Amino acid sequence: QGLHALAVKAGLQFFGTATDTNNFNDTAYMDVVNNKNEFGILTPENSQKWEPTEPRQGAFVFTNPDQVRSLAVKNTQQFRCHTLTWFEQLPQFVQTTQWTRETLTAAIRAHITNVVTHYRGQCYSWDVVNEAINDNGTFRESVFFRTLGTDYIPISFDAAARADPQAKLYYNDFSLEFNSNKTDTAVRIVKLVQDAKLRIDGVGFQAHMVVGQTPPRATLVQALSRFTALGLEVALTELDVRQPELPASSRALEQQSADYASMVAACLNVAKCVGVVVWQFTDKYSWVPSTFPGTGEACLFDQNFVKRPAYTAVAKVLSDA
Ligand code: G3I
Repeated sequence: QGLHALAVKAGLQFFGTATDTNNFNDTAYMDVVNNKNEFGILTPENSQKWEPTEPRQGAFVFTNPDQVRSLAVKNTQQFRCHTLTWFEQLPQFVQTTQWTRETLTAAIRAHITNVVTHYRGQCYSWDVVNEAINDNGTFRESVFFRTLGTDYIPISFDAAARADPQAKLYYNDFSLEFNSNKTDTAVRIVKLVQDAKLRIDGVGFQAHMVVGQTPPRATLVQALSRFTALGLEVALTELDVRQPELPASSRALEQQSADYASMVAACLNVAKCVGVVVWQFTDKYSWVPSTFPGTGEACLFDQNFVKRPAYTAVAKVLSDA
């Protein structure tokens, strides 16, 4: 039994993974991705972001994300779309143009309208705004915030809602898991959109964690529940739990298993936590070692596609639910 099949039995809507076209010629990898019982929803890891989809203003490219979508369709998996307004992986023109309120608003609207319309009716959800908050809870000084203050957030949700009435619209961020100032600001973002009488359906907790430093399960349940109390659904959208020291000792592997299990259990404890997505399932393609050198072994499968103890722990938490 795969993780998605177990998750559905446990009452979740999905257990899935990030993947992208640069992985697609790896047959051992594809054997896992193509197993719908293992991963019932796919998210493009990179190809649907602003830089790859609109590298030059007004010129849209959907070749790669279309391939991820087609794979999901072929496998009857769901498709979780990622991401629209984000400060990273921006094309040159967004970074260098001297924007005014009017021109940047128009550029955001044009980008979102084109991309969301292209995938209309095919995304379970869209991460409309991604990572708008610094870890201390202040707003990130992106080109969007510098030019528009927080207005770029409702502008983005408005454009997405108009382009696809079905896709669930999410705010998505990391380090919301500790119920900190950053979580408080995410609550403010939800209220900001709701007060503008616009639709926001979910908050994605990315859940990029470090072994031994995951929040107590009750803290995560509390943090998730602050958003469900506002009428939203929540999900763990980019889960991984990296080892701070390599190679991991057997004790560290046990701790990682407990950490993964506790994160998934927290989602199971919240009625409107709809599912879990891991940010790649194998170390072979994990983003972690290049971003945090010296750390890694963060995934449920090692680089040879051998399941880690954490995989068994997650399967058990789902089976016992
Ligand atoms: O596509 C170019 C390629 O043309 C070029 O030759 C190569 C040289 O470096 O770079 C390629 O781009 C890389 C891209 O991944 C696609 O592989 C970028 O350098 C690299 O920085 C980029 O990293 C991605 C990162 O987002 C970008 O910030 C990671 O793969 C991806 O896992 C990561 O995902 C993010 C989520 O979207 C948001 N939440 C955090 C998460 C982890 O950082």
